[in-house]
Amino acid sequence: MKIAIASDHGGFSLKDEIVSHLTACGFAVTDMGTDSTGNAIDYPVMAEKVAHAIQKNECDRGIVICGTGIGISIAANKFSGIRAALCHDAYTARMSRAHNNANILALGGRSTGVGVAFDIVDTWLNTGFDGGRHQRRVDMISGFEKT
Ligand code: RB5
Repeated sequence: MKIAIASDHGGFSLKDEIVSHLTACGFAVTDMGTDSTGNAIDYPVMAEKVAHAIQKNECDRGIVICGTGIGISIAANKFSGIRAALCHDAYTARMSRAHNNANILALGGRSTGVGVAFDIVDTWLNTGFDGGRHQRRVDMISGFEKT
């Protein structure tokens, strides 16, 4: 599975930890930046990079991280075909895959510790979509993109 990941300065430290973790687990990780906590970068720019990688099928899943995960998830969800889920624990991560078929995971670098984040990421990457009635609901959401 190919994974695109990006953060702003507020999510950089957690991104660094997750890139190392996923690489050690054998995933193909495309790190789209940023590369420090020092230089402030606008989170919508980083959300766009990952959203485009998913839209162009360059990567299968995406992970975006800002300070809270809120701004970068809102930004990612503006792109057609993107279902970005801000998760704070393994339960929400699992449900975002099983019920919402989320293709981008959003995390808060200032709100979620590394251990919990690894738990979230591992759960999110290893949970499939349940389909069925959930597919109908996801299709309804996709329909909103045409309005
Ligand atoms: C940047 O200071 C901060 O606003 C950003 O990382 C994020 O938390 C926005 O939602």
